[in-house]
Amino acid sequence: MSQIVYLNGKFLPIEEAHVPVLDRGFIFGDGIYELIPVYSRFPFRLREHLKRMGNSLAAIRIENPYTDDEWENLLRELIEKHPAEDQSLYIHITRGVAPRDHAFPKGVKPTVFMMSNALLTPPALQVKQGVMAISANDIRWDSCDIKAISLLPNILLRQMALDEDAIETVLFRDGILTEGAASNIFAVEDGVILAPPKDHHMLPGITYDIVLELAEANHMPIEIGKFAESRIRAADELWITSSTKEVLAITTFDGKSVGDGKPGPIFEEMYQLYQDYKDLVMRHRTD
Ligand SMILES: Cc1ncc(COP(=O)(O)O)c(C=O)c1O
Repeated sequence: MSQIVYLNGKFLPIEEAHVPVLDRGFIFGDGIYELIPVYSRFPFRLREHLKRMGNSLAAIRIENPYTDDEWENLLRELIEKHPAEDQSLYIHITRGVAPRDHAFPKGVKPTVFMMSNALLTPPALQVKQGVMAISANDIRWDSCDIKAISLLPNILLRQMALDEDAIETVLFRDGILTEGAASNIFAVEDGVILAPPKDHHMLPGITYDIVLELAEANHMPIEIGKFAESRIRAADELWITSSTKEVLAITTFDGKSVGDGKPGPIFEEMYQLYQDYKDLVMRHRTD
């Protein structure tokens, strides 16, 4: 059976979902997106994801086409149309279809596309052994807090990692840790969890929030700040977080072992807290 997606007011098979070539998403990458994990058919932290999406829309001056309740109804319908219990909901909004011109078109409705796929989390071996990551200069623009569909720098940066059989590229801007090409990054130094601040140099990850909440609730020391590359390279542990990667330990960074080359004890604790949280909280309605 063909996958059912949503496009501009209609649920339809993916093969029948077409967007005109003059859509500004296609022409300019003029739009934003959001990704929401679904556990046991419950969209997790839906209000927070919708808020982040609202912020992205406001930042690029597209009027939000739906209220939160309307979004929720559409998303629940999309979830029901997919066979998987755990899914990743993808929402994509562009400024709409108009003759090619940089100026915002007048009276044009945004294009709204949504699809849901089975949620793929990291294989057990990656969790057990950790993963490889490399580093690069953060070549992106100055508004990384907007979840923009124009992801060319992220794509090029992430591909650098994949070309070296690594799974993520950790970014430094002017020698300061920002985030990963498609994730947030945490470090551990002498038992303290180090996290970059939520500013315009990183996407405010929903998983980032959960990790800090779990750390705080379990009295794990946290330091939020701007961390120099030298400190990150000397850290005892490095972690990747995102809705799909959950919490994953980087055990090889730029070809060198992180700590003793195995996922560290603070990671193990956080990983377990995250899994418990997922089973006890995320799999139930949380809003
Ligand atoms: C650049 C970037 N940073 C951080 C994240 C993590 O965000 P979240 O935890 O909401 O998935 C993502 C997720 O795709 C991302 O693309």
